[in-house]
Amino acid sequence: MTGASSGIGAELAVQLAERGLDLVLVARRGDRLLEVAERIRRTASVDVTVILMDLSEPDAAERLHTRTHGLRIHVLVNNAGIGTDADVIETEAERLDELLRLNVLALTGLSRRYGADMVTNGSGIVVNISSVAAAIPTPHMAVYSASKTYVYSFTYALDVELRGTGVRAITVMPGTTRTEFGAHGGRIPGPDRMHAAPADVVATILRALDTPEPPSVIVPGTANAVTAALLPRLPRGLAVPLVARAMRA
Ligand SMILES: NC(=O)c1ccc[n+]([C@@H]2O[C@H](COP(=O)([O-])OP(=O)(O)OC[C@H]3O[C@@H](n4cnc5c(N)ncnc54)[C@H](OP(=O)(O)O)[C@@H]3O)[C@@H](O)[C@H]2O)c1
Repeated sequence: MTGASSGIGAELAVQLAERGLDLVLVARRGDRLLEVAERIRRTASVDVTVILMDLSEPDAAERLHTRTHGLRIHVLVNNAGIGTDADVIETEAERLDELLRLNVLALTGLSRRYGADMVTNGSGIVVNISSVAAAIPTPHMAVYSASKTYVYSFTYALDVELRGTGVRAITVMPGTTRTEFGAHGGRIPGPDRMHAAPADVVATILRALDTPEPPSVIVPGTANAVTAALLPRLPRGLAVPLVARAMRA
């Protein structure tokens, strides 16, 4: 589980532990990761391994894979992700590079490495966290939304490539969720009362994963599901300006 020190990742770690899964938690902030690990150990008898790593470093996927050598990873959750809070030309170029290295390159490298191990073992699930922002080009969060469109497209295609291997690749597209994403340089648009609680997002994800044939794409929340389904079908010239206005709200 990457990005397990706060938000959706921390909640997903807790709820997976409640189901009896041993966990490997990865993020940069050791104090916060240890807090999550302690919370889990108080309520569930599972093994929790904590790995401090900056996944935006170029060789991070290879190093994490090497660090977990010998552990059988049944479920990989690529949840670590960052956003931006300004338009492209107002954002530091290094921030955009960092975002792409984390949201795109690390996720791809980890899916490739652990996916191959799962195929060798004949079973496993790769869960990649995208966003409803993947549904359409999103002005004012252009690079973030494009990175999440990559996650959606890559994971969907990977799931098809993996057919018959016993391994699945599943995309999750959460809508706005009350996490530390904004405090970490991203932006959660809209009023707070419209934002979902991480616990509800995670419960929906796990309910969908529990079904005998989980869908390729999970969109938590009815309004988000409608948005994700409708937006790509509307004429771009109409939909993109509407989305741009919503992002400014
Ligand atoms: N919140 C929303 O509205 C929303 C909506 C749709 C999708 N999402 C997606 O949900 C995922 C989780 O985000 P969140 O909302 O839960 O935000 P969050 O609370 O900021 O969590 C982000 C997690 O990613 C980790 N992370 C960030 N940079 C990292 C790096 N370089 N190396 C390793 N770990 C790193 C953070 O840990 P450290 O800082 O300790 O490293 C943290 O655990 C992201 O992929 C995000 O794009 C969020």
